[in-house]
Amino acid sequence: MYTPAITGSGVFTPSEAITNAELVEAFNAYVDIYNAEHAAEIAAGDVPAKEYSSVEFIEKASGIEQRYVIDKKGILDPHVMHPLLRQRSDDEPSLMAEMALDAAKKALEQAGKTAADVDAVICAASNLERAYPAVAIEIQQLLHVNGFAFDMNVACSSATFGIQAAADMIRSGSIRSALVVNPEICSAHLEWRDRDCHFIFGDVATAVLIERAEDADGPYFEIKSTRCATEFSNNIRNNNGFLRRSRPDVVADRRDMQFMQNGRKVFKEVLPMVSDHIANHMAAEGIEASDLKRLWLHQANKSMNDFIGKKVLGRTPEPGEQPNILQDYANTSSAGSIIAFSKYSKDIKEGDIGLICSFGAGYSVGSVIVQKHG
Ligand code: COA
Repeated sequence: MYTPAITGSGVFTPSEAITNAELVEAFNAYVDIYNAEHAAEIAAGDVPAKEYSSVEFIEKASGIEQRYVIDKKGILDPHVMHPLLRQRSDDEPSLMAEMALDAAKKALEQAGKTAADVDAVICAASNLERAYPAVAIEIQQLLHVNGFAFDMNVACSSATFGIQAAADMIRSGSIRSALVVNPEICSAHLEWRDRDCHFIFGDVATAVLIERAEDADGPYFEIKSTRCATEFSNNIRNNNGFLRRSRPDVVADRRDMQFMQNGRKVFKEVLPMVSDHIANHMAAEGIEASDLKRLWLHQANKSMNDFIGKKVLGRTPEPGEQPNILQDYANTSSAGSIIAFSKYSKDIKEGDIGLICSFGAGYSVGSVIVQKHG
């Protein structure tokens, strides 16, 4: 048995960002266009008029202040309202591979390692750009990694489930190291014309390098323990899939072909699930709340994170104990907790213990207990 450790992490951040003010201006312009186009049906009571969004609501309900995106222009065009992403040829790197590559190189650099030191690539994300060949295998080829690669999807929990898969393989000795990458193009599964959720998501890619602790060339986070759980729920759902074209009733614009959620129910049902999951995981490992130096939580909603932080620690977290990045990045699905980890872990001291936790559609929840060395 070997000890797995996170030896490097990296974040790819798109160059374009959308503030809430810009987002709401575009959304409200779209509402005006929609209501004018449907004026007769609205007047007849056949179609409800669409309502304006507001910056105040978005900040109060979610804590999000802006989001990074791959294509700002299409999203903010009230006649388009989605990213416009050029179809790449089969000979070009796919967009997800390109984003993941950037994050992966940063993780390797931080660990002081090269692709020659990597045995496997896991691409764990909420949406995959194509059915096959696996995006992970493309990343493997672009990096010149030997060994093997595969894709996996557990929605917002993909990163922690990917870390568990990699850590278990390293622990058992079947591989020495793995890159777990999370390229999330959430802007392409979001319905930007839906007032209830148009502000939720952003784009990003994250990566962690996991190695045997004995191979670490610098400071590292020992993966002490991982725990994953799932429970089926329809409250976060996207019906888009490869059977779509074989169903004559499915029109391209059908609402359920994008991200759908019952946000209030998610709130109510996921919070106890996550709090209990973390408490049980810590108890099983003999870890007390007072032993935890940091919580790197999934980044969907500020109130949700405040609640979980308080429940886990038994008190309001001190500033910095439970860092949020969602004000800048919004919800980036599986990447959120890893952005927080990557940006807020350098000051953690030798021997300190922290917990990474992601949760979301499925429902799914994954937690990783780490301890700093070096
Ligand atoms: N601007 C202004 N008002 C808005 C609005 C907008 N963009 N969107 C909704 N509202 C209104 C609603 O119409 C509703 O009005 P009503 O009370 O008069 O009916 C009110 O604000 C409350 O709406 P609601 O959807 O209940 O808001 P909320 O406080 O639950 O916040 C979420 C919405 C999505 C931010 C929140 O539910 C959430 O984050 N849930 C968990 C999400 C999650 O973790 N999902 C996982 C995704 S991977």
